[in-house]
Amino acid sequence: MERYQDPRWVESQVLSLDHNYAMSDFVGGYGLTDADLDGLAPRLADLDREIAAGRADGRLGFMALPRDSMEILDAIKRISKPVTEWCWHVVVLGIGGSALGARALHQALSHPQYNIFPMARRHHRPALWVADNVDPDHFYGLLDGLDLRRTAFNVISKSGSTAETMAQFLFACQLLKTRVGEEKARERLIVTTDPDKGALRELVRRERFPSLSIPPNVGGRFSVLSAVGLLPASLVGIDVKELLAGARYMDQRLRNSEPEHNLAYRLAAIFYLFAAAKGRPMLVLMPYATTLSGLAEWFCQLWAESLGKELALDGRVVHAGSTPVKAVGATDQHSQLQLYMEGPHDKLIVFLEVEKFKHQVEIPRLFDHQEELAYLGGHSLNELLDLERQATAFNLMKAGRPSVTLKLPKINPFTVGQLIYLLEVATIAAAALFGVNPLDQPGVEGGKQTTYGLLGRPGFEARKQEFADAPPNKEKYVVS
Ligand code: PA5
Repeated sequence: MERYQDPRWVESQVLSLDHNYAMSDFVGGYGLTDADLDGLAPRLADLDREIAAGRADGRLGFMALPRDSMEILDAIKRISKPVTEWCWHVVVLGIGGSALGARALHQALSHPQYNIFPMARRHHRPALWVADNVDPDHFYGLLDGLDLRRTAFNVISKSGSTAETMAQFLFACQLLKTRVGEEKARERLIVTTDPDKGALRELVRRERFPSLSIPPNVGGRFSVLSAVGLLPASLVGIDVKELLAGARYMDQRLRNSEPEHNLAYRLAAIFYLFAAAKGRPMLVLMPYATTLSGLAEWFCQLWAESLGKELALDGRVVHAGSTPVKAVGATDQHSQLQLYMEGPHDKLIVFLEVEKFKHQVEIPRLFDHQEELAYLGGHSLNELLDLERQATAFNLMKAGRPSVTLKLPKINPFTVGQLIYLLEVATIAAAALFGVNPLDQPGVEGGKQTTYGLLGRPGFEARKQEFADAPPNKEKYVVS
């Protein structure tokens, strides 16, 4: 039996939320009241019905992933097998939702030094690198540092045409052909894309690249629990079955809750009320765990791209959204916290607390004669980090700065699966409260189309012309 099939173990791994310090009982007029939350109850009941309908008609395709993705695990194993036999490195070529999830899972669930361990210590699994940009020095440097005869690429793009990913793919493809020959190059380019549409799928058909599919109704930022995140995760030995079990557990929990006790809806309600009614348009996600910083970055994209919209669903101009910020405790206590404590009253802080880390690191008693060090001896890094989190939340509260704390009993695939799914549903619920469509991103299209025009892609000539016709920059505003 797997541990996630044992109800007693599962019970000890359940996420919880403490939002005391978001309430007016603690932060006075800056906080929410019971009446604020009660006032949203009818909206929560409505959005519960909307979400159930979206799930049933397939619009919210990501909600089926915790179950449906179990069916692709065999295909993932088949595709991974040859790779794990000869390959020392896998490079994910993708951007945005096609990169951040894989990186977040690797950071959260692999050993922090995994990529630089010798092969034996990695159980002969490949290292995982995520390009996520077309910075020439970074991309060239990444590939330059790898033995290409021992490297595979996972090209991930839902649309199959994103310029950055396609450029990375073309470069890697050419490089591989020259290093290992055409036939072997083909085996080393694993494509994850739409099952039917797009240039990448077309290439898969023509060139016979090994491939996996992203369900057509799952968009980039909601795709981490599809092949997009699961192939890279399983290549590095992450227990993806447990990850999906965690997501399924959260799904069941949310579905069994009344809307006013639903964890995702409560989060959404609090985030929404602070942004829309309490003048706090910034949401800081601050895990007290370095390994969760990738998850905070993944969430920032999910929250920003899903909620930041000009138009409401009814066509009104609303310019909705709240700005997500990633911070890491205790690191950012020495960087951003000063601003959070004394700067503008425009932020809600979301702490991620890890109740038990894998390791207990004791601080030795040394140099007892020196007061500034002596008090630390006999405590642990675990205690220090947790007490710093408590002290920070407490002092923010005293200063009238609201926060909430999401608690993970441990960091493991089961809790990370819960967290991912919870934040996805909370984002959908928040979109319903803001009255916007969480699944599109019209604001990023303009920049893409102008880039296509400037690069000479047929069909985008008007964009190129529009750019050329813009008034020239004025000398007086350039300082050199
Ligand atoms: O969430 C999204 O839809 C985007 O961030 C996409 O993931 C990103 O633009 C990459 O798109 P694609 O996967 O089509 O290459």
